[in-house]
Amino acid sequence: MKPTISPSILNCDIADLAGELHKIRNADFAHVDIMDNHFVPNLTWGLPVVEAVVAKDIMPVDCHLMIEGPDQWAPAYAEAGAASVTFHAEAAKAPLRLANEIHKQGAKVGLGLKPTTDIHDYVDLLPAFDMILVMTVEPGFGGQPFLHSQMKKIGRVREAAKQAGAEIAIQVDGGVNRETIQIAAEAGADVFVAGSAVFRAEDAYQEVEQLRRIASEAMHAH
Ligand code: DX5
Ligand code: ZN
Repeated sequence: MKPTISPSILNCDIADLAGELHKIRNADFAHVDIMDNHFVPNLTWGLPVVEAVVAKDIMPVDCHLMIEGPDQWAPAYAEAGAASVTFHAEAAKAPLRLANEIHKQGAKVGLGLKPTTDIHDYVDLLPAFDMILVMTVEPGFGGQPFLHSQMKKIGRVREAAKQAGAEIAIQVDGGVNRETIQIAAEAGADVFVAGSAVFRAEDAYQEVEQLRRIASEAMHAH
């Protein structure tokens, strides 16, 4: 299995979004963080920015919705052309219905888990999802340190997916860098979001290459 590298544009130079996307043209996805000042104490952007990134057509878009009311708002992100839409378990009222609606729009669906949310309550829902996002920071901001405490959860998600016979990708998001990507890959993650590690690097393109190489080696050694 190959790692998927999904740089977060949260802390890129948004005044030069096209240039920043071009820098990471070797990435598998662009991870776009949608925050609403309610689910998390931060506000970013919404549909118009997703539409703009989709229209550039450099790479597929992975939307991470850190918003209240995803039942109401999430399908529009799939309709806008996001290849993958992740909403949070803590915010969704009817996660199965919502997963169906997003799938109907032709996008993959992810279920996000904050650090204090375990997979236990969601085990029976796993077959409805393409991806589980194990947050490795409290969502809301880039540049926070990686929570090693979340590695056991990755193992539990892997085990539950195996039991359910479901093919599930496991994404980690928050504090992912050259060191922590190896730890997360060894724990069983296969989709890696990195924001500051990529955009604060001298050469974002090379950083994506490095992260992919390190993750790939860790996944194969495992
Ligand atoms: C945080 C966001 C992340 C963030 C990651 O809530 O979901 O995607 O951009 O940034 P780093 O990699 O800097 O932790
Ligand atoms: Zn994110």
